Amino acid sequence: MKEASLSTPENFFGESIAEHYDESHSEMFSSSVIGPALDFLAGEAGNGAALELGVGTGRIALPLAGRGVRVHGIELSEAMVRQLRAKPGSDDVEVTIGDFATTTVEGAFSVAYLVFNTINNLTSQDAQVACFQNVATHLEPGGCFVIEVGVPSLRRLPYGETFNAFHLSDAYVGINEYDVANQGLVSHHYTAIGDRFERRSIPFRYVWPSELDLMARLAGMTLRERWSSWKREPFTSESTKHVSVWENPLDARRAR
Ligand SMILES: C[S@@+](CC[C@H](N)C(=O)[O-])C[C@H]1O[C@@H](n2cnc3c(N)ncnc32)[C@H](O)[C@@H]1O
Repeated sequence: MKEASLSTPENFFGESIAEHYDESHSEMFSSSVIGPALDFLAGEAGNGAALELGVGTGRIALPLAGRGVRVHGIELSEAMVRQLRAKPGSDDVEVTIGDFATTTVEGAFSVAYLVFNTINNLTSQDAQVACFQNVATHLEPGGCFVIEVGVPSLRRLPYGETFNAFHLSDAYVGINEYDVANQGLVSHHYTAIGDRFERRSIPFRYVWPSELDLMARLAGMTLRERWSSWKREPFTSESTKHVSVWENPLDARRAR
C-alpha cells in the first residue's frame, strides 16, 4: 500500500492544559474507571510488554507498570510527559516523544493500546490508517491492539444541525461541532475564569467501529473481541463506546 505523507500534528496538550489535566479529568482517575482497564490490559500483556499510544500523564501506564508490566509510551506533548515524570514510579515507564501514527520504538510488544478516545485525535483517515500500520510493526506475532473509543453520537444530532451541547453549568460549557461530510468534530470547551469564559477548541475525526476493522485489516490484523466496556459487557446497538481488540497473525513478520 502506498504510504501517505503525514504532517506533524498540532499539540493541543501544552503546559497550561497538562498542568491541570489530572484534576480536570479526576473522574477518569477513579479506581472504578482505572481498575477494569488495568485488569483487561494486564491480561492482554501477559508476560510481555505494553505500548501505550498517547501516554499523557500516565493515568494508565503508571499503575499498569505498578502491576509488573513493562510499559513504553509514545507521546506528542513534552508538557504531559513532564507531569508523568513528576509522579512516583515514573522511572518504570519509558517514553518516546513523537506522533504515535509514525513514531517507532525499540522492542516487540504483546499489547498496544490507545484509550480515552485518543484515536480521534488523529484528524485524517490517512493518519488513523498509519497508526494501525505502525502498531502492527510493533506487535509480536499473536500480539493485539486495544482501542477504547466512543461510538460516534450522530443519533443525537438532528438532521441539518451541526452543534450539540454535551455539558452546561456555571463553570463549564461543552459543545460539539460536527462536520458530517468529513467525519470531523470540533469540541469547544468554555471554562469560567472569573467573570469571563475562556474557550479551547480541539479538532477530532470520529470513526465507526466497522471503519476501524477495515483499518486493522489493511494493517494485517483481525478483530478478535468487541465489548462495550473494560468489564467485557456486550456491545449492542445502544452502546455509547467500545473496547475493541484486533490481533496480529501468529505468523506475522514485519519490517519497521
Ligand atoms: C485524552 S489524552 C489521554 C492521555 C492518557 N492516555 C489518558 O488516558 O489519560 C490524549 C493524549 O494523547 C496525546 N496525543 C494526541 N495526539 C497525539 C499524537 N498524534 N501522537 C502522540 N500523542 C498524541 C496528547 O498529547 C494527550 O497526552
